[in-house]
Amino acid sequence: MPRIVETIVTTTNADGEVHIAPLGLIAEGDSWVIAPFQPSRTLDNLRAVPFAVANHTDDVRVFAGCLTGRKSWPTRPAENVSGFVLEDTVSHWELAVERVEEDELRPRFVCRIANVVHHRPWEGFNRAQAAVLECAVLVSRLKMLPAEKIESELKYLKIAIEKTASPREQEAWDWLMERVEAWRREYRTL
Ligand SMILES: Cc1cc2nc3c(=O)[nH]c(=O)nc-3n(C[C@H](O)[C@H](O)[C@H](O)COP(=O)(O)O)c2cc1C
Repeated sequence: MPRIVETIVTTTNADGEVHIAPLGLIAEGDSWVIAPFQPSRTLDNLRAVPFAVANHTDDVRVFAGCLTGRKSWPTRPAENVSGFVLEDTVSHWELAVERVEEDELRPRFVCRIANVVHHRPWEGFNRAQAAVLECAVLVSRLKMLPAEKIESELKYLKIAIEKTASPREQEAWDWLMERVEAWRREYRTL
């Protein structure tokens, strides 16, 4: 399996408006591939403006927030590409799309790194941070995965939250649980 790095990807539309979404970047030699499922704003933006920023953050509220309608995280202009960098990241990569491999389901935007910027040392992940990330992936797939699988994974991830969450991870988890509760209500009425 290739290495996949879970990042917050910022892209811009033709009007220069920023869009923020969690995406896994796939390593391919010296390149990194952004592979958004159709349809998506990230995909439309990459076609309009072929640059992106991969933001590496240990604040998992950004992952949870993006999936629960909380998308206004502070940004500033990138240095070497047309785009925006999230404030409060550990590091970021500025990316330029070199080619697009078309696919009906999931086109692949193969990018080269145009600039790497380190902001502060990475201080490691605790289990609650990892659990929020996994839960965010589950929440992004609520309509695709079997309900039993979602419930059993949530039960396991909750243990890490109870044992190791700081207020930041707890807040992120609570946002995700609001979405899970809405899904449960919908699922139970079917
Ligand atoms: C950790 C993580 C990784 C994700 N990776 C991808 C990905 O590689 N491709 C994708 O289409 N969606 C991925 N998602 C889901 C997207 O974040 C979500 O669908 C998002 O809304 C993208 O659509 P948008 O560009 O229209 O906002 C991921 C979500 C999480 C939490």
